[in-house]
Amino acid sequence: MTFESKQPEKRESTTRLEQGAVSDASITAVHRQLLREKPEPTEGFSPIPILLLFVFSALIFFAGVYLTRFSGEFEATSFSPSQGRGTTVAQGSVQVDPMVLGGRLYAQNCAACHQASGQGVPGVYPPLAASEWVLGSEDRLIRILLHGLVGPIEVLGNSYNNAMPAFGPQSGYRFNEERIAAVITFIRASWGNEAAPVSVERVKEVVAAVGNRSAPWTGPELDEYK
Ligand code: HEC
Repeated sequence: MTFESKQPEKRESTTRLEQGAVSDASITAVHRQLLREKPEPTEGFSPIPILLLFVFSALIFFAGVYLTRFSGEFEATSFSPSQGRGTTVAQGSVQVDPMVLGGRLYAQNCAACHQASGQGVPGVYPPLAASEWVLGSEDRLIRILLHGLVGPIEVLGNSYNNAMPAFGPQSGYRFNEERIAAVITFIRASWGNEAAPVSVERVKEVVAAVGNRSAPWTGPELDEYK
């Protein structure tokens, strides 16, 4: 007898044996045993304990209240003390240090030209360190920031003939009075400069005095406010 011919014969006999072994009685016996091992379903049965349901409901309610109260209305600027909704915060209860705000505004808006060191770029951007324009008249300095400056000027004995952009509320930068005051206060007290801070009220007075103006100042025009 060959090996191949043996195989089918063996399989057939196994199948026959299994079928024979399963009787109705043995199936019922096995099922009865399985049923005994499972607990009977009871009335009022809940897949989640009622206490857990209560705890999760309370958590979701708390999260809702928390978000309503502290989300800052999902504004990207809600943590910026001088922008958007932050402005109301700054003018209300929380006081922002003008040196901190001014330093940040300077780094973001002025340092590209006047440099982080306040030294400017020779022949192109005048220095702010030790500059008589920065340390001198508040009225003149506020006007430069509000409306910009164009044309020939002299700073620390060197001539410049370039253009400085406007930063006031009417300009593209839209600095409010608080920001103007902060950046001026910062440049008057940095890089060895030691001039008094400029208040928001002072900036507001100058804004009111100048009124509507879109053109930048020229050096000679500002002589009046020295
Ligand atoms: C695009 C470059 C540029 C930027 C940005 C700029 N400035 Fe100027 N700034 C100038 C130029 C150029 C002058 C000189 C204008 C002229 O020649 O009439 C000037 C002049 C000045 C002056 C008077 C002259 C002096 O050196 O003291 C002050 C003060 C000043 N800038 C402050 C600032 C502050 C503060 C900022 C940021 C809020 C700023 N500038 C942003 C280019 C710039």
